[in-house]
Amino acid sequence: MSKGVVFSGVQPTGELTIGNYIGAIKHWVDLQDDYDCNFSIVDLHAITVPQIPANLRKNTLEVLALYLAAGLDPEKSTIFIQSHVTEHLELSWILSSMSYMGQLSRMTQYKDKASKSDENLNAALFTYPVLMASDILLYGTNFVPVGDDQKQHLELARDLAERFNNRYSQTFVVPEPLIQEEGARIMSLQDPTVKMSKSDDNVNSYILLLDDRATIIRKIKRAVTDSIGVVSYNDEQAGLKNLINIYSVLTNKTVDEIVKKYEGKGYGDFKGDLAEIVADSLEPIRNKYEELIKDKDYLEKVYSEGAEKAKRKTKKMLSKVQRKVGFIQKKY
Ligand code: TYM
Repeated sequence: MSKGVVFSGVQPTGELTIGNYIGAIKHWVDLQDDYDCNFSIVDLHAITVPQIPANLRKNTLEVLALYLAAGLDPEKSTIFIQSHVTEHLELSWILSSMSYMGQLSRMTQYKDKASKSDENLNAALFTYPVLMASDILLYGTNFVPVGDDQKQHLELARDLAERFNNRYSQTFVVPEPLIQEEGARIMSLQDPTVKMSKSDDNVNSYILLLDDRATIIRKIKRAVTDSIGVVSYNDEQAGLKNLINIYSVLTNKTVDEIVKKYEGKGYGDFKGDLAEIVADSLEPIRNKYEELIKDKDYLEKVYSEGAEKAKRKTKKMLSKVQRKVGFIQKKY
């Protein structure tokens, strides 16, 4: 039986946080042996907000090096830069002709970004989820491992797959989100009501994958908790709940095991242990990253071979779609 297909990606818009790691990349590493995995660095998505070209180039290579440092293996998975596989854009145009303005305007990520922008909004910010649907549908993807914030975009990809299949006959697989319960939404360490994000103004609100040990320990010690003083897992203690989630994902311990371990102990003990756990988990990634980022030839080899593999995989699906919508097949 053929293995299921997995697709996911990260935008190269800055340094990655443990939210990206726990919500997505860590999970991907575990899927590599059991699925046909495709992981992209989605630079086309990144330009939907203004980017400084030199930074975009730098960030794209950094995300690639982080993928590899975290354990993604180019021998097992197809790892590539999205703009190198132009088939994504070709499918995106076709799918945008079947996407409804009303549905796109209800996307919360679009509404959030639109409400924060003082400049003219660009059209790509609006059609962003259609390109994401193309990323996914082009590979016949069964599963999309993402954090909770991407759920709505996934719904759109499913709708577009069904709409296309209904209109033109069975073509696309309808993809399922793979969202892990505990790591689905890592919250800000300073305000547990908002998602941890690298674009937060307060540097203490997030931990970067490349933060050093002392910084990680300091940020966790400063993480907002509450005055209840008992380590337990509930919505009233949202700050603590978030820290327990991080602890749980990084140690593979259940929430109950963690709560039990800290019975009768204060937040100081818990945070002290958590700080060591986070620092110990990220240290090998940081060390490996420092090695890889210097080796530009190796990175180039990985993304070039990855793009070739991805192109081979997408060609058939794209020409099938083009044929179904009525385009004349290329004869060259
Ligand atoms: P991006 O770059 O915003 O985030 C990459 C991944 O990290 C997850 N994530 C989080 N998970 C838990 N807690 C958090 N605080 C947190 N912050 C980020 C995101 O859910 C995501 O899985 N549109 C996508 C990129 C994309 C994509 C795709 C993903 C483009 N095409 C196709 C899957 C399939 C995005 O902006 O991710």
